[in-house]
Amino acid sequence: MPPTDNDDSIPAVAPAASAVGVKVENLSKSFGKFEVLKGISLDIAPGEIFVLMGPSGSGKSVLLKHIVGLELPTAGTVTIDGLDAAAPETREKVRMALVFQAGALFNSLTVYDNLALYLREHRLANEAGIRDKVMRALQILSLEQAAQKFPSDLSGGMRKRVAIARSLVMEPQLMLYDEPTSELDPVMGATISEIIATLRDQYHVTSIVVSHDRDLALGIADRVGILMGGKLAHLGPVAELQKPKDPAIADFLSPRIDLKNPRFKKLET
Ligand SMILES: Nc1ncnc2c1ncn2[C@@H]1O[C@H](COP(=O)(O)OP(=O)(O)OP(=O)(O)O)[C@@H](O)[C@H]1O
Ligand SMILES: [Mg+2]
Repeated sequence: MPPTDNDDSIPAVAPAASAVGVKVENLSKSFGKFEVLKGISLDIAPGEIFVLMGPSGSGKSVLLKHIVGLELPTAGTVTIDGLDAAAPETREKVRMALVFQAGALFNSLTVYDNLALYLREHRLANEAGIRDKVMRALQILSLEQAAQKFPSDLSGGMRKRVAIARSLVMEPQLMLYDEPTSELDPVMGATISEIIATLRDQYHVTSIVVSHDRDLALGIADRVGILMGGKLAHLGPVAELQKPKDPAIADFLSPRIDLKNPRFKKLET
């Protein structure tokens, strides 16, 4: 059973504040001589679901890390409701959660304790309050039965849901998801997409979703950005992706298996 105690001296977490906007201006990032991002500008509205796509290695995760302040720009700025994303105070003022590409769960902790960790570390509620928040998040993601299991005992899809549930207990104003449907079967992928859309509708959380999943993008995005060669090759409403004019974007979204395509030639060495 989850632990309990009667320490009521710790205040409960504040009610969720309103969603926040994200502004990226002329963001460039280099690692040594390698320029990954080349002057990206992007405005994400409060409550928007923005899906970021792009080939592997195009810099999607690097861009997400700038928004949560885990990377510093080489040039340009990233602000969240006008606050510098890289400033430590911003993380005290804005509740944001990044669901990492690989889940990043603590294998030595149960699912319950993985979710409770943030609340305990920040002393945001007593154990009874923590239990309410953790069980509610597990319930939203249909994981109540997994509370006392360890991450290694779960399927990949369950681990993804645990990672989302763990972010949810923070009652975030901004949720960032890095490849939330990769390695999942299509049904579980659709379920995760629905969860992302439901969380936005119920909690008005701003959501930035990095994904290769075209169905997810077309299903839940308000707008889609496609990163290619360090720049946003496409930025616009999801409807514009139904029939993309740019052949590089069309090929990225619906690649044809054509062994004469130069894409395949590049792999021959
Ligand atoms: N800390 C770092 N130091 C050096 N190079 C890095 C660092 N982080 C990322 N890179 C490089 O930046 C490029 C973009 O990486 P990133 O992880 O953002 O790609 P991605 O678009 O998320 O790819 P994927 O779809 O495979 O996850 C890659 O070439 C990567 O090797
Ligand atoms: Mg990535």
